[in-house]
Amino acid sequence: MKTAIYPGSFDPVTNGHLDIIKRASTMFDKLVVVVLINPLKSYSFEISERRELLEKATEGIKNIEIDSYDGLLADYFTQRSDVDVIVKGLRATSDFEYEFQMAHTNKDLNPRAETVFIPASANSTFISSSMVKQVAMFGGDLSNYVPPMIHVEISERLKSEFQEKKRLAELNRKDGK
Ligand code: COA
Repeated sequence: MKTAIYPGSFDPVTNGHLDIIKRASTMFDKLVVVVLINPLKSYSFEISERRELLEKATEGIKNIEIDSYDGLLADYFTQRSDVDVIVKGLRATSDFEYEFQMAHTNKDLNPRAETVFIPASANSTFISSSMVKQVAMFGGDLSNYVPPMIHVEISERLKSEFQEKKRLAELNRKDGK
């Protein structure tokens, strides 16, 4: 039995992530999608919300588990003795350097942690979570970028976050801050 982990921020999950999830789930007996934290990023969705969105987006995929972890991926890998390999998607050569660095760091921290790369499908190479967030915040149509069952939820949530940011910025401006 071969089990893979697909780690990421998933802030939020996009059709690009789902492309990798669906394909990886056919290559391994089990796929664990794990929501992690990149401490250098600021997130729009809480870790619990990111998990919930992933659960909805992957409903119907039988051999999948959604998890989250607040720590190093290498440590998560150590704790999960049932896991064999890390899977990551590569959208373009621009992803390569960062992914290569992460793969080597993870292997350095845990020599058992090998990474395999799956090339993103051509129609999702331009999708990213930041792009989705920007389109949603200005009220754009997300239907081509995120799974249909969560597209309204993501749009509404990001639109209200943006409105709130604008409201606070306006208050600060009036207060002369
Ligand atoms: N299709 C579409 N978009 C994709 C994609 C795909 N197949 N694969 C990645 N992306 C996008 C994501 O949406 C994200 O977009 P954004 O930057 O606009 O938010 C971007 O590519 C990077 O995604 P991800 O691979 O999730 O990287 P990340 O930097 O957000 O997080 C973690 C990577 C969370 C896995 C990493 O930081 C981690 O392991 N954290 C735990 C702590 C740790 O161990 N750190 C040391 C690791 S070296």
